[in-house]
Amino acid sequence: MITLVVAAGKKNEIGKDNQLLWHQPKDLKHFKEITQGHPVIMGRKTYESIGKPLPNRTNIVISRRKDWFQEGILIVGSLKEALKFAKKIDDEVFVIGGGEVFKQSLEQADKIEMTRVEVETEADVFFPEINPKVWILTQEEFIPKDEKNPLDMYFQTFERINTTL
Ligand SMILES: NC(=O)c1ccc[n+]([C@@H]2O[C@H](COP(=O)([O-])OP(=O)(O)OC[C@H]3O[C@@H](n4cnc5c(N)ncnc54)[C@H](OP(=O)(O)O)[C@@H]3O)[C@@H](O)[C@H]2O)c1
Repeated sequence: MITLVVAAGKKNEIGKDNQLLWHQPKDLKHFKEITQGHPVIMGRKTYESIGKPLPNRTNIVISRRKDWFQEGILIVGSLKEALKFAKKIDDEVFVIGGGEVFKQSLEQADKIEMTRVEVETEADVFFPEINPKVWILTQEEFIPKDEKNPLDMYFQTFERINTTL
């Protein structure tokens, strides 16, 4: 099972200047609950934006650089290699971004755990379009804004209904 985990605004925006676009602690908690204990695959830029390995998860980072090394993570040269390693560790594998890696992995994914943040904001990285011929929304929970989470959001689960597209 390959699951993409993403938080996107109304226009599918996910990042700007190698940063996230909002601070929603409830979403970070949700992300932790979903991914904890499983391997997580990410692009080198996302890893650098987080700045350290995510605890209690095997961090698999994709990079073409030969001279790049960081402690506490597994560095691989392609998405294919990342998936191969992750599948050896666990049946459940999470791809956690960013835009470049989501784009390449969407067609291999079985599930998308999407946090839809109710905002339209300037961005330079986007999640790809979720094709309704391929994906069906199977779960949705509304999370209203509060004093610590300034934006309304929805926790949504999409499952693949079409394996040929
Ligand atoms: N809202 C969210 O849910 C979410 C989640 C994650 C990230 N983000 C945001 O997304 C942005 C980062 O995304 P991004 O698209 O710029 O970068 P990215 O996907 O995180 O990383 C891109 C890098 O990954 C490596 N890479 C990607 N595909 C590869 C392949 N097939 N083979 C080998 N290496 C490969 C390359 O690293 P090298 O250059 O080292 O070769 C490439 O430069 C940030 O703003 C971040 O905050 C948002």
